[in-house]
Amino acid sequence: MAEDLSIITGSKTEQYQSLLPQIKALITGEPDQTANLANITAALKEQFGWLWVGFYLVKDNELVLGPFQGPVACTRIRKGKGVCGTSWEKAVTLVVPDVEAFPGHIACSSLSRSEIVVPLMRDGSVIGVLDVDSIRLDDFNETDRRFLEEIVSWIL
Ligand code: SME
Repeated sequence: MAEDLSIITGSKTEQYQSLLPQIKALITGEPDQTANLANITAALKEQFGWLWVGFYLVKDNELVLGPFQGPVACTRIRKGKGVCGTSWEKAVTLVVPDVEAFPGHIACSSLSRSEIVVPLMRDGSVIGVLDVDSIRLDDFNETDRRFLEEIVSWIL
């Protein structure tokens, strides 16, 4: 079955509004979490062209690299460390307009300038995070937070 994504131009909101139903269709009825995380990263990378889009999953009290699209990345992040470990510890989405201004930021790629990290919640606990990095400063805002939080809420 062909699974071509329809990529559109337009405002960020328009891009998300086009992409969300396509992501929903890709993951609906598929119970395998790895398959769904992989397709979500691919769809986001293809539509928005960000530097890095990927998941870290909580395993043995560490964040361990999961499905991603982009350059190779750090494999393990401890709780409270970097943007990802802080999002995990606080169970909140973090929008970082300038990664160099974030104390303890973990630079997996020197090209990353801004970042958003969204926690994956299950039964009140964080089971992982979605991390997105951009080569542009201040590339993420409230629109990204809203739509990315909606996408991760679909993850089983
Ligand atoms: N910058 C992240 C580390 C993960 S990479 O960006 C892929 C952080 O500070 O947690």
